[in-house]
Amino acid sequence: MMGIVQIVGCGPGGAAWVLPRAREVVAGCDVVFGASDLQALFPEHRAARMDLPSRPESAAPLVEAAAGKGLDCAVLVRGDCGVRSLARGIERLLPAGICRRVPGLSSVQVACAAFGIDWDQAKIVSAHGRDPGEPDRATLDAPVVVLLGGGPGSGRVVRRVAAAFGPCTIKIASDLTLPAERLSEFAAGELVPADLPSRTIAIFRKESP
Ligand SMILES: C[S@@+](CC[C@H](N)C(=O)[O-])C[C@H]1O[C@@H](n2cnc3c(N)ncnc32)[C@H](O)[C@@H]1O
Repeated sequence: MMGIVQIVGCGPGGAAWVLPRAREVVAGCDVVFGASDLQALFPEHRAARMDLPSRPESAAPLVEAAAGKGLDCAVLVRGDCGVRSLARGIERLLPAGICRRVPGLSSVQVACAAFGIDWDQAKIVSAHGRDPGEPDRATLDAPVVVLLGGGPGSGRVVRRVAAAFGPCTIKIASDLTLPAERLSEFAAGELVPADLPSRTIAIFRKESP
């Protein structure tokens, strides 16, 4: 019989932001897959641990092999499973019915809370490891845009989205919940640095007329 694959949202990175339910689920699994910084959030777990490639095509066969031996697996993902995570890609490639999702706090929620912004109408755009291209109509029309992704040169993407979006304030949150956490704000026309930490979220909010 196949094992169950629990896709576990681990929050934005700080150990205090891992939900108790995530700890319970991971404790009940035989194998824990995930990046080393996410594994480090579960030091109490004594079962087998395996690193996981970030591409679903490479990750799914490893998880399927373990589940095929009847082992219950946890797959650790950053933030929440439902926001640009490995969850959808891996679920699509694994046998139907063996995956469960365990929600976590998304870095989007934490960033918006840090700046006191509602995110129920936000459009989320990912520049994580890729250029998002020119913003589409839905992005330009949204009252709030949340751009995921940092790293060298990512500030230029932020500037480009801001220019297309029109008059707005830009809030930038890096390394949320971690010791290096940094929050900054830029008024329209102020220049965002070209290079930003790899864990960065930029929030664009339209200026009120
Ligand atoms: C592949 S997406 C995963 C998002 C994740 N599923 C979530 O709900 O937060 C990775 C992006 O999340 C954002 N991110 C994750 N952790 C973060 C943190 N601690 N601080 C700021 N941004 C973070 C960054 O924009 C990063 O490029």
